[in-house]
Amino acid sequence: MNTSGNISRNTVDYLRISLIDRCNFRCQYCMPEGAEFDYIQSQEMLTNSELISLLREVFIPLGFHKFRLTGGEPLLRRGIVDLVREIAALPETEDLAMTTNAYLLSDMARSLYDAGLRRINISLDSLDRDVFRQITGRDRWERVWQGIQAAHTVGFDPLKLNVVVIPGVNDREILDLAALSIDRAWHVRFIEFMPIGNTDLFEHKGWVDSATLRQLISDRYGLIESNCRGNGPADIFQIPGAKGTLGFISQMSECFCDRCNRVRLSADGWLRPCLLNESGQIDLKTSLRKGDGYEILRGKVEELLFLKTEINFKDRDRGTGEQKTYHRTMSQIGG
Ligand code: GTP
Ligand code: 5AD
Ligand code: SF4
Repeated sequence: MNTSGNISRNTVDYLRISLIDRCNFRCQYCMPEGAEFDYIQSQEMLTNSELISLLREVFIPLGFHKFRLTGGEPLLRRGIVDLVREIAALPETEDLAMTTNAYLLSDMARSLYDAGLRRINISLDSLDRDVFRQITGRDRWERVWQGIQAAHTVGFDPLKLNVVVIPGVNDREILDLAALSIDRAWHVRFIEFMPIGNTDLFEHKGWVDSATLRQLISDRYGLIESNCRGNGPADIFQIPGAKGTLGFISQMSECFCDRCNRVRLSADGWLRPCLLNESGQIDLKTSLRKGDGYEILRGKVEELLFLKTEINFKDRDRGTGEQKTYHRTMSQIGG
């Protein structure tokens, strides 16, 4: 832990990079069918070379060594394999991961791996084709499953599967989804539904707390707490004897801000200190394009990092129950 003034905080060394705000799925909880989105214009997107310059000249010198590529759907970004190769080749890159819906993965897994990507997290909210279609708006379960298999075959490790639990929609499948961790070293993570993206669905369906899910799984299979905690917000458990693990990401029932190690860069170059708080964002792209030197950019990011703890905690202190309106959806922020 670092200490700045009397505020104790985690080291912030993990940058989540949203490469694109578009997606080829329409998950009910994220980009529901029919909703209108103000997509970022292509000239407003950070180019690959701007992004690499920001990493090399701004983030890496400030201690960032872990990068996650997200979206929208990052595999829709033109030139994604080359970008992966460039980031993986930076000598300071210690960890390069991606979060994807896997629709394009069966064709791309090998080239992504060869380009240097080693970790992948895949959204898989259901094992039932109809429920999958209901959630994602697309009849694409088989192709996603093939993408997961391809990632496994190619050797992505760890391979994590993300399940957003929606009451009355996919909560009947918790045990089947948890069982995916038994025979394969897959890491299944149950995510509490957050009121970002589709607040109507959230208000209508609500969310299930991780403790309830753990009880359900424990009653059926047994459950032990794992002593390994990854990079992130998940609490890790394991079915006894299973090859993989179960993670619980509990942003609604638990506050994990005190171990937050990450900031988020949007596809149009805004840096955001906290997923659940819109204050404190800075526009790095405009600064870069108007010719501010890297020292100035580093200064701006350093200031944001200094304020981050304050920003993380502020809303929680005001009361977690308060319903907020978010101007950007998860597809625009990068999850
Ligand atoms: P690992 O590095 O593999 O542990 O990844 P991760 O769990 O951080 O990444 P992933 O993209 O799979 O994130 C899964 C989900 O966790 C996100 O979509 C969010 O719902 C939630 N999440 C990740 N980071 C944060 C965070 O900083 N705050 C909150 N509230 N939720 C987060
Ligand atoms: N609540 C929780 N998680 C969400 N995601 C998207 N929208 C939400 C939401 N409203 C997560 C999904 C996906 C990742 C990119 O973002 O788990 O895996
Ligand atoms: Fe696309 Fe992911 Fe959002 Fe689903 S959760 S619509 S796959 S960005």
